Amino acid sequence: DTGTLGARPPMGWNSWNTFGCNINEKLIREAADSLVSSGMAKAGYQYVNIDDCWAEKDRDPVTGQYVPSRTRFPSGIKALADYVHAKGLKLGIYTSAGTLTCAKTMPGSLGHEDLDARTFASWDVDLLKYDNCNNQGVPAKDRYQAMGDALRKSGRDILYSICEWGANDPWLWGKSVGGQMWRTTGDINASWGSVMSILDQQAALSPYSGPGGWNDPDMLEVGNPGLTVAESRAHMSLWSLLNAPLIAGNDVRSMPAWVRTMLTDPDVLAVDQDWGGRQGMRIRDDGDQEVWSKPMSDGSVAVVLLNRGAAAQTISTSAAELKLPEAKAYTVRDLWANTEAASNGAIRAQVGSHDAVMLRITPGTTTALPPLVTVVVQPSA
Ligand code: DGJ
Repeated sequence: DTGTLGARPPMGWNSWNTFGCNINEKLIREAADSLVSSGMAKAGYQYVNIDDCWAEKDRDPVTGQYVPSRTRFPSGIKALADYVHAKGLKLGIYTSAGTLTCAKTMPGSLGHEDLDARTFASWDVDLLKYDNCNNQGVPAKDRYQAMGDALRKSGRDILYSICEWGANDPWLWGKSVGGQMWRTTGDINASWGSVMSILDQQAALSPYSGPGGWNDPDMLEVGNPGLTVAESRAHMSLWSLLNAPLIAGNDVRSMPAWVRTMLTDPDVLAVDQDWGGRQGMRIRDDGDQEVWSKPMSDGSVAVVLLNRGAAAQTISTSAAELKLPEAKAYTVRDLWANTEAASNGAIRAQVGSHDAVMLRITPGTTTALPPLVTVVVQPSA
């Protein structure tokens, strides 16, 4: 446990990207099992999040409470929370700040915030993802404030994930209504175009993220059909550089080894989870070539060299461009290839089409390293 809610970007898994409304308690239990057996839990993926479509269409006529789907969640949410907690994980749930959720298969919480927050607390839920559909035109800030207040009064620490899609600049008020993360953009899908379009919309938002309240560029599509291995690597590199919440959206019950390895890379996750005072920023945009960097708390700099083009290219930067302190030599670690080299400050890497190289550059060298001659070579996918 990290102590304070959202002290670091939350990590976990969510049912939506792969399963949509096709969810049930067995799937959620198996996802929890797989987070543990795959090593993802140990790597930090803690929240097991049930998205839309978990409840009956009607509330309980007597208590007004949500009724978990009688066919798909017959044991109830409390039993799932117990199951997930016994594995050392946390349970997340979902509803909308409207009259119905987005899938319209279950009620939303608008006007029922206190009762619903109390219900979630009584079920020992640890996170609420609160969507924006069917909101009846009530101002977003009011709707999200009402649930933020209700969660605070619920008596349980429930991480508040504001899913407002960035329509009303939630980065300006998400923290003030009690949120630990807020969506900055519309829904991601498993395509290069979606990942790049969301990325472009993050470039100006760096000042609004930090410990206790994170910009959320949406859940991961790593491992989902539609993204190549290289595209997934770029997506994972960039989301980590942005200190994004890392909520896996693939079927963790049946992952190829490369997906598990990519999702659990310790050097890459360390960049995501580190706070050096600023989320990653785009420091150069040469069309298809981009350089993104992020200060690390130990004085090193994390770098993503992104190739959006159709052919492999060499992308260069330098210690000066990265605003590293002057030094005779720098240690350049390739976070995916796990290689280290010494550099006099010139950084160059061969980056494949729709791919990224992720580096961490530290002033000084600690061991006798081979010189970084021309390129840091990517391992072939
Ligand atoms: C819209 C959200 O942005 C998605 O992440 C997902 O929660 C769906 N709604 C569910 O209907």
